[in-house]
Amino acid sequence: MPAEAFDPFVYAHARRREIVWMSQNTNHLVPPGPATTAVREALEERRYEGYPYAPGLAELKTLVLADLGLPADLGCIVSAGGTEALYMLARALLAPGDEVIASDPSYLIIHKFIELSGARPVPLEIYAPPYRLTADRIREAIGPRTKMILLIDPLNPLGSGYPPEEVRAIAEVAKDHGLWLLNDITYRDFADRHTLAYPFHPDRTLTVWSVSKNCGLAGLRLGGLAAPADVTKAVGRFNTNDLGVNILAQVAALADLRSKSTWIESVRTTTRHNQATIRAAVESTPGTFLPVYPSQANMFAIDISATGIAPERLQETLLKDDGVFVRAGNYLSPKFGGRFVRASFSNPPEQVAKFAAAFPAAVDRLRAGAVTPRAA
Ligand SMILES: Cc1ncc(COP(=O)(O)O)c(C=O)c1O
Repeated sequence: MPAEAFDPFVYAHARRREIVWMSQNTNHLVPPGPATTAVREALEERRYEGYPYAPGLAELKTLVLADLGLPADLGCIVSAGGTEALYMLARALLAPGDEVIASDPSYLIIHKFIELSGARPVPLEIYAPPYRLTADRIREAIGPRTKMILLIDPLNPLGSGYPPEEVRAIAEVAKDHGLWLLNDITYRDFADRHTLAYPFHPDRTLTVWSVSKNCGLAGLRLGGLAAPADVTKAVGRFNTNDLGVNILAQVAALADLRSKSTWIESVRTTTRHNQATIRAAVESTPGTFLPVYPSQANMFAIDISATGIAPERLQETLLKDDGVFVRAGNYLSPKFGGRFVRASFSNPPEQVAKFAAAFPAAVDRLRAGAVTPRAA
């Protein structure tokens, strides 16, 4: 009988207390007090017995828009993670034959949603400096079927951030051509500075937000879409969560957003420190490099192509032999995924130090052909 393929997620979830989780850009640095207190109170009140107010807690929407500096009267959909908002807007705004200018590498789940709507992502290759899209390349790629531009800023997986003048220029290209601008800002709070596209193209910018990464609430599944009210109304027609989003997630997000100003700087300081730790480990490992440094998100792509090692093998030995979970690049790029692993670093420094010690040794083991990762 053929051996079953190794599933890193089955392996890692079964050992989740021992594993250093650097594979999903989750944030393990937010003080747990505000969210756990709010959830505990909601549990004691047994708020789970009733349906939540279907459109989402009004104060949550107010706080989200205020946190982003967006107008208070903008439409705001609260959904089960940014993921659900991305799905809804693709269904609502794209039709068969439409094209969406995107990138490779990218967060490919969005491309999948584009395809489910019958439309086609047109990925521009960005695995070379400046490791992001430019307004000029987007303009050249626009064709008669182009309907939308996907601007993920900061970008998963490379960690590139867009300078203010480039955000403005891309928004102006979208405006000049009457295109939707999908501005996915999931990682905004990790950046040194960040510019929203909305002010430059207010009628057609779709700002997809999430509390998974900035507030460290990925497991609660909460995010959404901010856009003009007529747009959120049109997108909301595709809302399958008609009875509202999990109330525990909403109260946790409220508590974290209310207290964010007291802890976000410390998250940023720690992630900057962790970036330096990872850079030192990568620099000490021949054949590997960081395409983008510093990262404006909470993750690096680490290029290992010159080692000749397949990212999946490195992922497997780091997980099984070192207890460190990073992600092979094929999940993020059909074309370049064989060149890198992605490692996130919004983790306590001692966990990142564990990665830093394990990474050079794991590359050495594989390079020497000395390792077949231990059987699960
Ligand atoms: C670029 C990007 N957008 C959206 C999401 C989805 O986030 P969530 O559904 O947890 O809000 C992710 C998750 O990793 C992401 O990387």
